[in-house]
Amino acid sequence: MMWAPVAVALLIGACSAAAQPRITAETLTADAPCNASVTIDLQKRKAISPVLFGIFFEEIGHAGDGGLYAELVQDRSFDALAAATGFLDSPATRKPLDLATLAARHHHAMLPLHMPWDSNGRSYSSKREYLEERRRNTSYDPRNDIIVAWQPLPGTTAVLTKEQPLNEHNLVSMELTAGTGPHSGLLNFGYWGLYVQAGHNYTASLYMRNPDEQPKNVTLSLVGEHGATLYGTLTFSGVEGGWRKYTAELASTATDANARLLLQFDGPGKLVVDSVSLFPSENVAAGSGMLNPWPFRADLLDALKALQPAFMRFPGGCYIEGDWMRNAFRWKAALGHNEQRPGHMNGVWGYWSTDGLGLFEYMLLAEELATEPIWVINNGVAHGDSVRTADVWPLVEEALDSLEFISGPPDSQWGGVRAAMGHPEPWTINYMAIGNEDCGKPSYLTNYLLFFGAIRARYPHMRLISNCDMGPDAPTDLWDWHIYTNPTDMFKRRNEFNGKTPQNSHHIFASEYAVTDGGGWGNVAAAVSEAAFMTGMERNGDIVTLGAYAPLFVHWNNRPWPTNMIVIDNSRWFGIPSYYVQQMFSRARGSHYLDTTVATDPGSQVHQESVAASATCGSPACDRINIKIINFSSMQQRVAVVLTGEGSDAVLGEGELVYLWSDHPEAENSFDTPTKIAPATATMDGLSSKFVLPAKPWSVNVLQLHLGPAPSSAAITLQADVSAGVGSGMDGAAAS
Ligand code: AHR
Repeated sequence: MMWAPVAVALLIGACSAAAQPRITAETLTADAPCNASVTIDLQKRKAISPVLFGIFFEEIGHAGDGGLYAELVQDRSFDALAAATGFLDSPATRKPLDLATLAARHHHAMLPLHMPWDSNGRSYSSKREYLEERRRNTSYDPRNDIIVAWQPLPGTTAVLTKEQPLNEHNLVSMELTAGTGPHSGLLNFGYWGLYVQAGHNYTASLYMRNPDEQPKNVTLSLVGEHGATLYGTLTFSGVEGGWRKYTAELASTATDANARLLLQFDGPGKLVVDSVSLFPSENVAAGSGMLNPWPFRADLLDALKALQPAFMRFPGGCYIEGDWMRNAFRWKAALGHNEQRPGHMNGVWGYWSTDGLGLFEYMLLAEELATEPIWVINNGVAHGDSVRTADVWPLVEEALDSLEFISGPPDSQWGGVRAAMGHPEPWTINYMAIGNEDCGKPSYLTNYLLFFGAIRARYPHMRLISNCDMGPDAPTDLWDWHIYTNPTDMFKRRNEFNGKTPQNSHHIFASEYAVTDGGGWGNVAAAVSEAAFMTGMERNGDIVTLGAYAPLFVHWNNRPWPTNMIVIDNSRWFGIPSYYVQQMFSRARGSHYLDTTVATDPGSQVHQESVAASATCGSPACDRINIKIINFSSMQQRVAVVLTGEGSDAVLGEGELVYLWSDHPEAENSFDTPTKIAPATATMDGLSSKFVLPAKPWSVNVLQLHLGPAPSSAAITLQADVSAGVGSGMDGAAAS
């Protein structure tokens, strides 16, 4: 049996009915043997989590700053520079900058790649040991990773100053002293260039104070890489006196992904600037009614929407732990106007976080994606230090306050802060994770118990997630499970959760899984093995409630992690094959698992450990069945699909097949060929209770079958026969 000889268009999403190719299933006969069989019993079924597949957003690899966050200026408040030069933490009030020397010290080169500390159970006893070795081996200095985003114009003297700060949270500003030339100023190179488009408008805002008597004219321009080509300009005339905010629109006449923002003023004398920001004007318009511009880059938001995630875990990961407690993400420091946010060193991943993405923005994102938020908090444990349980209560209160901020009425203290930021309606939150990968660390368990008790007492509906299954030692609603490994091991791990039941285990949140070893930058073999693993999640979807690939984003110019689902630069993105696997599974979620047995032909040439499968159906009637069949081998496999039990005689002849494959397991997508590996969609006909699915080499196949009304009453009535451990308030509707 061959595929119908029709060129199958590679598609990101569903294609129009007219363009959709047809594949005719071969009837299963005794004289045409198959390599494997998948038997699905429509009567043996169990309720599973209908929200298994979601996303995990972490501020790693410039996922947020320089990524999803739409700010175009890098280091808008000069804090990264202040941190890189040691000025931020020093008692000094002024720091003259020798930016040329600093820029030379700084290397923009990619960091060498490292496997995660827990990869394949390899060599590192702790994440700290892994990170320390990484630093030793690479002369790694987190400060080197901070991009020196600002460059003074020739002759301009640049001094970081803490004198007369803009506000109590934004302590450092930039003092410029004019040289002898007609114009002095600064150039910002954005995140590896600013991306501007011809005919688009950009809203600039900045704070300035003029310490001199003489008013000054200040010009902001969009220019090409070397400053010689002008794309757009505006002038603020007569700048004088103390701090004042200046805002205006810049129109670009050109499209350039490597543009610069140029700030110039006419001398002589000084000008002090801070919080220099540039957003696409459509973001500013979309943020109307809120304190800040709409925070998300439109194309990347669309990339997330296409995943139809059932939930979003955020914002870390190691990011919430911090290399040290002082660098942990703290939500109260990421509130209000952007210029009121001090930002912090993202020490684990080596760059400055503006905190433009704070809890408010993460909740906006969850709302925009219509997804269940899962908020991860630091419970007093960082990589290098921790807070003793006796001293941790303020952090517990911080966690409780965050829940009031999210879900409290506008007349509550923290609900009022949310309302003032532009979102009076409370959000709903049902999940909170207490810490990340911290089991076994000195204070974790005792801190955890304090957090758990306090949150449970005030918010009894909250489902709380621990960093491991602590057994009878500690109560938990779900525990967090992570795996980073190679494709062969990932394929085997489809059996990881077999044997665990709600009776003998707490529910599991597989919040980080990915092939990171032997999968290139994200290749087909890696994606296919992850799909096999995900069939195991579905099989055990009564105990595995939620799961997410990690990490979600990486900027191509800063890759601290080997494989990441969505690769970006400042103007483009592409999904690695794993992105499309996530999309395929997420769009074919089910509320019930149908007993699926895979058998391989012992005489087959194909390695027996190469086929994985699972089948689910969705509520309210089990009349649409999602069958996932994975071929983790280099040979096309004839897979016999047999449906048994009541309803199996009512399989309609036509279904929809979405499939992703390649002859080359090492094949990858790239900016130039972003959808080389992407799902194709076909109508499959000739279906019945027994048919042959020709599974392409290295393929993931998602087939949706329909049960018709005749000849028997085909729909299977579903009952909530097994608790899937899904929280109240969660949308139980399956996507299928
Ligand atoms: O996903 C990258 C990192 O891997 C996460 O920050 C951490 O939780 C894990 O070690």
